Amino acid sequence: MSSKLLVANWKMNPQTAAEAIQLARAIDKKNVVIAAPFVYLANLKLKIKNSELCAQDVFWQEKGAYTGEISPMMLKKLGVEYVIIGHSERRVLGETDEIINKKIKAALSVGLKIILCVSEKKFIQNQIRKDLKGIKIINLIIAYEPTWAIGTGKADTQENSKKVLNFIKSLFKDKLKVLYGGSVNSKNAAGFLNMFDGLLVGNASLNAKEFGKIIKDAHFRN
Ligand code: PGA
Repeated sequence: MSSKLLVANWKMNPQTAAEAIQLARAIDKKNVVIAAPFVYLANLKLKIKNSELCAQDVFWQEKGAYTGEISPMMLKKLGVEYVIIGHSERRVLGETDEIINKKIKAALSVGLKIILCVSEKKFIQNQIRKDLKGIKIINLIIAYEPTWAIGTGKADTQENSKKVLNFIKSLFKDKLKVLYGGSVNSKNAAGFLNMFDGLLVGNASLNAKEFGKIIKDAHFRN
């Protein structure tokens, strides 16, 4: 069985570069992917040895007059390996499937690995169809994150998440890694790790001790 992947999604945290470096060093282990704010990525690249870096978003154009945007190649050249695209916290701010589709194409074209977030089962097939329109599936990981489970302390049940996992796997003929995300903590991580190829962890990834326990659990299986 392939190794479990743990993605630490820091979102808009921590508030200083010094804290970011301290936290990254504490969780700098193999098969750990750190999704840090853009402004910390270059610095973190110099400080980490075992983990890999992930951006939390990317723009779809190569270069030019796009104030405030970051291109896929900028990330690639920095040594960033992954990018999260289509997180529900961005979808609610207006990111459409069409935008997500453009971002995925642009990111794949420079060789970034994509973590595509999808939400509840009833939306997944449609999201996947639109988000991946015209795309040959390479370097793609799907993260199943029911919106009601994100940041609420209420993770999905084993039973339901297993059903959704099987559904997603069947859409891709079992060829893709599928992660679970949504209120993962050190207590419920084992259950999800038993089924999924890894975890996308928000809140709990900001606490080195708590995330450390999840890392131990995942590495124990690798
Ligand atoms: P959470 O966030 O673990 O804090 O629920 C997960 C995510 O949004 O990726």
